[in-house]
Amino acid sequence: MQKIVDDIAAQMASRTEKGTVASYIPQLACVNPDQFSISVALADGSVFSAGCAQTLFSIQSISKVFTLTLALGKLGERVWNRVGREPSGDPFNSIVQLEHEQGKPRNPFVNAGAIAIADAIIQGHQPKEILAEILQFMRFLANDESIVIDEKVARSEELTGERNASLAHFMASFGHFENPVDIVLGTYFHHCSIAMNTVQLATAGLFLANSGVNPITGYRVVSSDRAKRINSLMLMCGHYDGSGEFAYRVGLPGKSGVGGGILAIAPCNASIAVWSPGLDTIGNSKLGTEALELLTQKTDWSVFGK
Ligand code: DON
Repeated sequence: MQKIVDDIAAQMASRTEKGTVASYIPQLACVNPDQFSISVALADGSVFSAGCAQTLFSIQSISKVFTLTLALGKLGERVWNRVGREPSGDPFNSIVQLEHEQGKPRNPFVNAGAIAIADAIIQGHQPKEILAEILQFMRFLANDESIVIDEKVARSEELTGERNASLAHFMASFGHFENPVDIVLGTYFHHCSIAMNTVQLATAGLFLANSGVNPITGYRVVSSDRAKRINSLMLMCGHYDGSGEFAYRVGLPGKSGVGGGILAIAPCNASIAVWSPGLDTIGNSKLGTEALELLTQKTDWSVFGK
């Protein structure tokens, strides 16, 4: 595995087309695009990395996998009263379906869906309490107490978050929200601004590759049934209107973030985190996707066959 990840990192270093760093969140535009890292956490708990695997980046929408997991823990099947579980076929920040579908987002991974999930997990708590809970959950999953929220990124998102504010107010207009919109948005912006490296992220995703149990800590995070279902949502919706392309090219459940990270799950085999800040036109990491495509070519991990 070390040879495979070293080889992938070497190939990525020689690519000239690296995509474009997200600029609509100004703080993300400051990130050097010439960075790449990959960490593969195997189901036996061993982790193999290449590139700048200790460098922290903004996990952005990848956090939606973990807030969904928390929401399922708190609400169980009632989560599906708040969001659907169908691919949207629209960009991550699209508002168009919301009007036709009475303010119920298609899935928990588009921005509207993740904002609705943030509302669902607050349950009357103070913003600080819910953020502490999300952060604690990330530290527990990654087995690393050092994980924090990047306040600069959160502030940057807040200052430029008109689109997300529109989505939230529009959903609230249907009477779907339990908490004030500003508290829901603050929670959402902050969980998107969690900073992690690929080692931490691959470790945090291991429970999804290992039937709900993190093999490093031995803790059961969710039932095997729930892990399977979260994976299915990642496969169908994790890359927005690029989910079909990602399934075609990589063949794994995956969740991208505009910080350039992708978490991919090879069920029963591995949890993989890749990071490269340059994005494709849809907003998914360009080299991250290419690296995962190479990885599934070099392994027999595609869920669609060998
Ligand atoms: O709300 C936003 O736009 C960002 N905090 C998250 C979007 C994102 O990561 C989309 N992913 N590819």
